[in-house]
Amino acid sequence: MSNIERGSFTTKIGVIAATVGAAVGLGNIWKFPYTAGVNGGGAFILVYLVCVLFLGLPILLSEFFMGRKTGQNPKGAFRSLSNQKGWQFFGVLCLICPILILSFYSVVAGWTAEYFWQALTGGLEGKNTAELTALFQGFSQDPVRPIIWLLVFLGLTVGVTLGGIKNGIERVSNILMPVLFLLLIILAAHSLSLDGAKEGLSFMFKPDFSKINAKVILDAMGQAFFSLSVGLGALITYASYFKKDTNLPQTGMIVAALDTMVAIIAGVIIFPIVFTYGISPAQGPDLVFIALPNVFNQMIGGQIWAIAFFLLLAIAALTSTISMSEIVVTYLAEEHKFSRKKALAILFAICGTLGILCSLSFGALSHLKLFDKNIFSLIDFTASNVLLPIGGGAIAVFVGWFVNKHIIYEEMQQGSKMKRSFFAVYYYVLKYIAPIGLLLILLSQAGII
Ligand code: PFF
Repeated sequence: MSNIERGSFTTKIGVIAATVGAAVGLGNIWKFPYTAGVNGGGAFILVYLVCVLFLGLPILLSEFFMGRKTGQNPKGAFRSLSNQKGWQFFGVLCLICPILILSFYSVVAGWTAEYFWQALTGGLEGKNTAELTALFQGFSQDPVRPIIWLLVFLGLTVGVTLGGIKNGIERVSNILMPVLFLLLIILAAHSLSLDGAKEGLSFMFKPDFSKINAKVILDAMGQAFFSLSVGLGALITYASYFKKDTNLPQTGMIVAALDTMVAIIAGVIIFPIVFTYGISPAQGPDLVFIALPNVFNQMIGGQIWAIAFFLLLAIAALTSTISMSEIVVTYLAEEHKFSRKKALAILFAICGTLGILCSLSFGALSHLKLFDKNIFSLIDFTASNVLLPIGGGAIAVFVGWFVNKHIIYEEMQQGSKMKRSFFAVYYYVLKYIAPIGLLLILLSQAGII
């Protein structure tokens, strides 16, 4: 028996809010715009949408199937669906991957907390682009301050997870997700009124096909996996808490649609600003921390906007970090009989240490590079662009080829009025298109084709 008390989400809305909360986070609002910017805009976004539809969504639905059918952590889910031991290796991957992601993610989550604090105390007010750039660089390269925020954020994540997710996560997500959406829409409306709106939108929506290359495709795929939180068992874990009357296909499509919408809206907010204030769209991870304070300074009541935005960004990050720590806790409790407390103490120690290294890689350790990447980018790349696609591919092959089709159909059917034709399309894409697509992308990245 496990030490974890197995409960379930209580309402339909709660399931959607919590799962969208896990999916929507820094990946949508911070990472998507800068990755799109670095990869040339429109072409990247087009490839991204194809990846969401043909790779992300079928794997997301398969994770839902595995979690709810078995009611277990990822390793337990592989075990109870197949007696071939090898598959459990991928369950172990579902322990390593969230630890790696949580480590670098908490650094950026800490940045959002600092910016919330700066906004609250008027530290961003009246600053121009050059001053905001200097502020961000000074802060992110500091050896102490970002680390304090990182540990505070990690502590908060651990604290919330310690209290159990059912009441906490579901209730918090129900309130915060609608507020996040509202704020995003208001900010997007404002951005569309700026002088650079036309240029920003054409950067996003006019694909220049000559820009599509192996790197763009790999980045788009990594981003799709990261943003939807697929390939590392987060959704297996969450779905293990779903009730039998939860509509899996519908919930999956809503989560994928809302997640994609938030990423696109984040782009609609950022790129008009970028072109209006002469910031380079390809400047990388600091885009949100320089571009947005800039526009808040031009807005009436700018300080309030900045406070609200960075608070919500921190909250969006928190609903995601909780889901990562929940994967680890559920896993360690069920597979190794750890108490929630012990599992979280270990998680805090490991992610805290890795997180400190990631944070220092912007300053004191910036000279440490492997494959031309600092520690932060290396962990991000390894997790998002290598391990997530491998984990996602394993899930696609496992469910598509090694699980009886009727078992999948019956589970998907429970709580939904899914049409047979929908299932047939899902199954075909899962079985053939997703694994072949993934293999081609990974081979081309490795330089083999
Ligand atoms: N999907 C989250 C985001 O876009 O910010 C990141 C994430 C959350 C990745 C949970 C993995 C995970 F298990």
